[in-house]
Amino acid sequence: MTASFFEETGIRISPSLMCADQANLAGEVENLEAIGADMIHLDIMDAHFAPNMPMGLGALSDLRGRTSLPFDVHLMVEDNDWFISQLAEIGVQQVAVHAESARHLDRTLGLIRDTGSLAGVALNPATPLDILEHVLGRLDFVLLMTVNPGFAGQKLVPSAFEKIAACRDFLAARDAVVPVSVDGNVSFENIPPMVGAGAGILVAGTSSIYNSGGDIDENRQKTVAAIAEGVALAAEGAGDS
Ligand code: DX5
Ligand code: ZN
Repeated sequence: MTASFFEETGIRISPSLMCADQANLAGEVENLEAIGADMIHLDIMDAHFAPNMPMGLGALSDLRGRTSLPFDVHLMVEDNDWFISQLAEIGVQQVAVHAESARHLDRTLGLIRDTGSLAGVALNPATPLDILEHVLGRLDFVLLMTVNPGFAGQKLVPSAFEKIAACRDFLAARDAVVPVSVDGNVSFENIPPMVGAGAGILVAGTSSIYNSGGDIDENRQKTVAAIAEGVALAAEGAGDS
């Protein structure tokens, strides 16, 4: 049995299933179990908040019966509360809603927790961290978008590393012990500085686990090596302070 990424590195990997073969999702989920993925990142878009619609609730519901891996759902939708009620029926472990679409963010985070899932706030690259200030009591994780939401295969936004470090510091200054997840161009090259800046969950797409330059086992090895570099950077940074 393969160790999970978390057991091996202390950092969690959440492969993004929208980057897998959509005609073979059950097989793709088996592959993720085999490489020790810690959870599965599921992007739900309504083609309004983000201009795409890669996966539907029907697929999630059918996949729920095929795996015990935690479902890490990233909602990129306008009507968060309706999707949360649907996800509650499917049974998922964590749900992130975008601060930009949640009109009543505090209430929506409470709704997620009421369903028994962990509640996260996702922030677009341009959204300031301050929006987290008054919801820290209802927050289980932060999801920082390091590309603009909607599509795989994009380039990192320039402010990404700085924002991850700023988020780590923002949370630490408020004694908020919640992981920072990063999503978008989490590549072999970008993983070390992302982990060094404080990322604890890596959403892995075409830049790493689904990289076309290797098979999934080779990509796993390269991802673990990149995380180890990042952990060393983080330790150096902690030593400096
Ligand atoms: C969006 C998705 C994808 C994923 C793709 O929320 O979760 O963007 O990050 O990974 P890359 O950017 O590596 O193709
Ligand atoms: Zn995502």
